[in-house]
Amino acid sequence: MKALIPAAGLGTRFLPATKAQPKEMLLVVDRPAIQYVVEEGLASAADEVVIINSRQKKVIEDHFSPDPELVALLRARGKDDYADEVERVGNMNVSYVYQDEALGLGHAVRCAAEKTGDEPFYVLLGDVLVPNNQMLPRMQEVSDAHGGASVIAVMPVPHEDVKRFGVIAGTEIADSVWKVESLVEKPAPEDAPSNLAVFGRYLLSPRVMELLADVKPGVGGEIQLTDALDAVLREEEMYALVVDPSDGFDTGTIESWLDTNNILFGKR
Ligand code: G1P
Repeated sequence: MKALIPAAGLGTRFLPATKAQPKEMLLVVDRPAIQYVVEEGLASAADEVVIINSRQKKVIEDHFSPDPELVALLRARGKDDYADEVERVGNMNVSYVYQDEALGLGHAVRCAAEKTGDEPFYVLLGDVLVPNNQMLPRMQEVSDAHGGASVIAVMPVPHEDVKRFGVIAGTEIADSVWKVESLVEKPAPEDAPSNLAVFGRYLLSPRVMELLADVKPGVGGEIQLTDALDAVLREEEMYALVVDPSDGFDTGTIESWLDTNNILFGKR
């Protein structure tokens, strides 16, 4: 089973900070945002973490590559704590596939089809951080309890914010677990079926990967993962796990990125 981390986006909302530096490399307290996500993938049941990168963002790969010269220099200067961290990050087992055109999240995920094959897979969006690494195991439990169904994380958001997210319609079947009936990407608040927003963590059946091949551009002219999830509901069940706001942190806007830094800094 693979954990996919799409990272080929343009980081538009953070320009000009992201003109020469990938959004995924922006600092959150003490490490680049994407390092939290890779650590979460490595801590999960996945046997491989795959970053779906763009060829312009090689610096992400540099971050997860060994740097023996830097480690030796730090050790020679007695800075062993830093050397240990540089070594740890450089040894993280990450592989890469490339999305050569920015055609949307659904297209990015589809670029990893050869990696996932006929297995279920996780998708971890870097806009969302889950520092306790507990979301994927909890989603796996819900999936196991429902015959291997797809499970997505959702979080209640203020009504006027639904236009930034995918939103579900469904029924609550147990504490924090919903059976999903439909999904819509970035609805206008007056059209939103609920205030439960898709929150950056997915455990998906292989059928979703197949359906992505046929998804047409949707909201924003992009191939949307949400549209493939809505399509798979005609054939398979899907569940949503409601995330507690103290477990998951949004870094998708400058304001939420700053809030996340403040909260996580305070927890150190
Ligand atoms: C993506 C998904 C959306 C989801 C959001 C946050 O949107 O398309 O459904 O709610 O991430 O996880 P984006 O932030 O890439 O526009």
